[in-house]
Amino acid sequence: MKYYDLPKTDLKVSEIALGCMRIADKSIEEVEELVKTALDCGINFFDHADIYGGGKSEELFGQVLEKHPEYREKMIIQTKCAIVPGKRYDFSKEYIMNAVNGSLERLHTDHVEILLLHRPDALCDPQEVAEAFDELYESGKVKYFGVSNHTPGQIALLQKYTKYPIIINQLQLSIVHSVMIDSGMNMNMKEEFAIDKDGGVLDYCRLNDITIQAWSIVQASWAEGTFLNHPDYKKLNNVLDDLAKKYNVTPATIATAWILRHPAHIQAITGTTSPKHLIETAEAANIELTRQEWYDLYLASGKPLP
Ligand SMILES: NC(=O)c1ccc[n+]([C@@H]2O[C@H](COP(=O)([O-])OP(=O)(O)OC[C@H]3O[C@@H](n4cnc5c(N)ncnc54)[C@H](OP(=O)(O)O)[C@@H]3O)[C@@H](O)[C@H]2O)c1
Repeated sequence: MKYYDLPKTDLKVSEIALGCMRIADKSIEEVEELVKTALDCGINFFDHADIYGGGKSEELFGQVLEKHPEYREKMIIQTKCAIVPGKRYDFSKEYIMNAVNGSLERLHTDHVEILLLHRPDALCDPQEVAEAFDELYESGKVKYFGVSNHTPGQIALLQKYTKYPIIINQLQLSIVHSVMIDSGMNMNMKEEFAIDKDGGVLDYCRLNDITIQAWSIVQASWAEGTFLNHPDYKKLNNVLDDLAKKYNVTPATIATAWILRHPAHIQAITGTTSPKHLIETAEAANIELTRQEWYDLYLASGKPLP
């Protein structure tokens, strides 16, 4: 595993993190094995959210921590809040405070290293969010703050009010879903791929030392599921297979290495619940794709370049 210093923090994080969204329907024994495998692979970063499995994902993870308290000091735990199922989004101070208290209880820990606001709330009052961050930091419940799925403008607005740096923006990114990369390379063209859908979020985050975390790294979309072996992505899978043979790894390892090859130090969050797949994914840290291989994969996913 490779590690880097997370800008504006004292945290040294693994390039690959384990996302815990899909563990809710696993048994405690399965989650225990998955967490142990992650630690054995050198993964020290674990991503949660209060809504994953309606709280069940955090609860199962907390049970593993209860059984293995020695794991906690090896872990950087991040959770998210403010998506309210069936209602939508809530950045009110009361909601954020209650959400964090609930997460800490379920995770069986007295603090998380990082808290992210999960999706933008149209009714966000940044002053109120700043007050919540103050209380959470001062009580020792949260060390660092970030966001997910936020535009540069939304981040800048929050940053204007809070004294704590926004250190993370967690965004959807894979070879197939590369919206944040497409528009920059197609700038000033008439095609659909030239449309800037996120306000230049990739450059903004790099300019401001905000680490991008990639979610759904082997998914085409929610509707299609993974692009691995998907009949609609034959060309991409052929290139993935060829590179997998060359590097003696699996296509999923190559797809993860594609994210890590970007010089922005994007942290890849894998959502696998399989220890075998996790070991394969972690191998991506040992592979550096060539410049041409990175572009071959991009083009094989069906996107144009001028
Ligand atoms: N901020 C947000 O809005 C947001 C949204 C979605 C997700 N997330 C975060 O990102 C994490 C990852 O999201 P995701 O689960 O959609 O990502 P993903 O890693 O793309 O996983 C999607 C599916 O691909 C399969 N897969 C993963 N690695 C594989 C491998 N090496 N070989 C074969 N199949 C593999 C998994 O099934 P198997 O279990 O069978 O391997 C999983 O069901 C989540 O856990 C969550 O922490 C954040």
